[in-house]
Amino acid sequence: MFSLDERKLIDDEFSLLRSNYLNTAYFGPLPKRTQEVLRKSIMRAADPSFYDFEDWINLPDTARIKISNLLGCNKENIFHSSSTGDVVHTVSQALKKKHVISVINEEYPSNVLPWFFQNKLENHTLNIIPNSEIIDVSYLEKNLPKETSILNISHVSFKSGRKINLIEIGKFLKERNILFFVDSTQALGGISISKEELSYVDLLSCSTYKWMLCPYGYAFGYLSNNLLDEMKTNTTNWLNSCKFIEKRSLIDYTEEISEAAVKYDRGQSPNILLMHALVSSFSLFEELTLKKIETYNQQLMSHFHENFDAKNFSLEVPKENLANIISLKSNSNDLDERVTSLKANNIDVSIREGSLRISFHFFNTFDQVNILLKNL
Ligand SMILES: Cc1ncc(COP(=O)(O)O)c(C=O)c1O
Repeated sequence: MFSLDERKLIDDEFSLLRSNYLNTAYFGPLPKRTQEVLRKSIMRAADPSFYDFEDWINLPDTARIKISNLLGCNKENIFHSSSTGDVVHTVSQALKKKHVISVINEEYPSNVLPWFFQNKLENHTLNIIPNSEIIDVSYLEKNLPKETSILNISHVSFKSGRKINLIEIGKFLKERNILFFVDSTQALGGISISKEELSYVDLLSCSTYKWMLCPYGYAFGYLSNNLLDEMKTNTTNWLNSCKFIEKRSLIDYTEEISEAAVKYDRGQSPNILLMHALVSSFSLFEELTLKKIETYNQQLMSHFHENFDAKNFSLEVPKENLANIISLKSNSNDLDERVTSLKANNIDVSIREGSLRISFHFFNTFDQVNILLKNL
C-alpha cells in the first residue's frame, strides 16, 4: 500500500482528471509534473535564444538511463523509436537471416502488420495461429509450428487483458532456440518486469502513452545482446554517427556508428518537448517504484473480483491470468447501452472488439472501483 504522503502526491499529480477514469489501456493521463515540464519546454521553444547544443543533445541518453533503471538492464540495450509498430518494423528489417514468425490471432496489429509486409516481400514468413483464453507451455506445445524461429506476442493482450508468464514461456522458447519478442505496451508501468523475466526476452517493445503516463508519439525497444548479434545495421542518422559523437563533426561522413541498440535510435531522437516529458513521467515511477504500483493495482483488481456480480457480464479470461485490464462480455447483447449508462455516471471505459474493457492504474481508488461495481 502507498503511504499517506504518497497517496497525497498521487491525488495531486492527477487532480485534473474529471471522470472516474478507468481507461489507461486507451490513454494514460499526464501527471501534473509532466504538464509543468511541457509548459516550460514550450516557453523555451518559443524563445530558443542562445540555446546551447549541449543543453539538449544528451536528452536521449538521460531517457535511456531512466528506462534501463526501471528494467534493470544496460542503457546500451535500449533504443528510441516512435511506436511499437516502428520498433517491430526496425527489427524485422535488420535481421540477418530469414525467419519464421508466429503470432497469435487477435494480437495487436503493430505486432502483426510489419511481418505481413515482410511475408509479402518474401523476406520472412508469417504464421497466424489460433487464439486461446490462456497462452501457456501446453498451448505452445500443441499450436506453435515446429519451424517457428520468432514468437511475437503481447505481455498483456489489449483485447482480453490476458497476461502471459514470461519465465515459463521464455524457458520453453529458449530450449528450442526461438527468439522471444514481447510487446509490453499494456503491461509495463501497470506491472513491473523483473530482471529474470527480461533475461528470457529478446525484443521488448513499449509504447509509453498508456501505463507509463507519457505523451503520445514515443516507444522504446529493448534488444538483448543475443538479438543484437542476429541483426545488421542498414540505416542510420547523423546523431548516431561516431564522428558526430566524438568531435561534433557534421561533414566528416562515416559509416562508423554508435554501438549496440543505440544505433537504431530514430532520427531527431532528442525530441525536446517529448523527451523532457518522458523523463518527468518516468521519475514518478522511480519515486513510487513499479513494485509498489503493481501491488496496489493488484489490490484494486482483487477488490473488483471479490465484489463482482457475474450475472450481467462474463470475464473473457480467468482472473488468475489478468494483470490490470479486465475485459467483460455482456451476457445480454446490450453493450452500447451499458457504456452509455456508465458514461452518464461519469465512468470512462472502452469497448474493444465487442467487450467492455476496464483498466485500473494507481491513481484509481477503491471508491472508484465501488462506483463501477454499482453501475455494472
Ligand atoms: C498491445 C499494444 N501494443 C501497441 C499499441 C500501440 O501501438 P503503436 O505504438 O504501434 O501505435 C497498443 C495500443 O493500443 C497496444 O494495445
